Amino acid sequence: VTASAVAATVRDAEAGLILDLDRAATSPVHPDVLSAMLPYFSELAGNPASVHALGRRARHAVEEARERVAAAVGVRARQVVFTSGATEALHLAILGSLAARPGAHVVAAASEHAAVIEALRSAERRGHPVTWLAPDAAGRIDPAALVAAVSEATALVVVMRTNNETGVQHDLSPWYERLTEHGARVVVDAVQAFGYEPLSLDLAGADLMALSSHKVAGPKGCGALILREGIEVEPQQRGGGQERGLRGGTVDVPAVVGFGVAAQRAARADVRGARVAALRDRFEQALVGDPSVTVNGAAAPRGPKHSNLHFAGVDGETLLINLDTLGVMASAGSACAAGSLSASHVLVSMGRSVAEARQSIRFSFGEELSEQHVDVAIERVRRALQSSR
Ligand SMILES: Cc1ncc(COP(=O)(O)O)c(C=O)c1O
Repeated sequence: VTASAVAATVRDAEAGLILDLDRAATSPVHPDVLSAMLPYFSELAGNPASVHALGRRARHAVEEARERVAAAVGVRARQVVFTSGATEALHLAILGSLAARPGAHVVAAASEHAAVIEALRSAERRGHPVTWLAPDAAGRIDPAALVAAVSEATALVVVMRTNNETGVQHDLSPWYERLTEHGARVVVDAVQAFGYEPLSLDLAGADLMALSSHKVAGPKGCGALILREGIEVEPQQRGGGQERGLRGGTVDVPAVVGFGVAAQRAARADVRGARVAALRDRFEQALVGDPSVTVNGAAAPRGPKHSNLHFAGVDGETLLINLDTLGVMASAGSACAAGSLSASHVLVSMGRSVAEARQSIRFSFGEELSEQHVDVAIERVRRALQSSR
């Protein structure tokens, strides 16, 4: 890409080019996904539980989507339970497993997503002790420490595959036998890995795995719990017996149909992952030339789409606002209800100070970006940095 091409794109930018570098937060629905969904809002809007023709049509669409999600992670259709998203899937996995083991112990990483942390806080209130393991400075959870924390009293081990803030990966598969030998189950939040890294229960070393549709160009408010054959969970929501009784409530047919098509696309994860990693690496290599910029989690294996950067001496909130003004969408670890930044619990769990965590920003990359877009983003980050210092 020539300097003049970048300059031209920067001019486009000033004319309104928005660079969405927040693709770990969500993604736009792919046109193929949208067109598959549309009939199920209108002429095919049957309830899959109805016995008439429209109902049968809707049921067929849901089962086809289930086959597609199952195929994307190499399981049978009956191992897929559709939910309202990964948050619900994780609650079903965690609380639905603990229901059969009153008072049982849980081992979890302190750097999990809020969906896991809050499900486990509920479990703690119900009398389940939780051992929270902190990651090392690079964001890695020591598998040997996990094994050491597991005993016969342990019902669950909960460690995400790819961290949503840093992209740091955990591979529990070599440890699966030892983690489960005393009867514990392994729950893996695979939301950020799905569609970007090859994924299956065995690759993730999981008994239960949560997926979300909206991170892979599917609609929001839809996800799935994948269960290893023979694993049972207690439903957390009962009703009309939908989803084999595991999740009562009328199935959101358009969303599930969209998720099915999105999952089909997500199955080409290695190609997408390599493409996105090249963009992410281009971005990081340009910015770490500045000695005040470092990559959080750089020393650990990372998934392809995340770049969590620490900008020494720069207030992250100011930088985010300046980036927003320049048309670059990025994010901090977490935002409180008032919209002001709280320090990322993930970075703090890695031993960063609260101040360092507040100086860190997450960028994340989507497959539709070009190298030229990345070069424009680099320029804009540099400009935003200047005005934030
Ligand atoms: C790692 C991780 N887990 C869980 C979730 C929650 O997913 P959902 O929005 O489908 O409930 C997200 C999305 O924010 C995530 O990134």
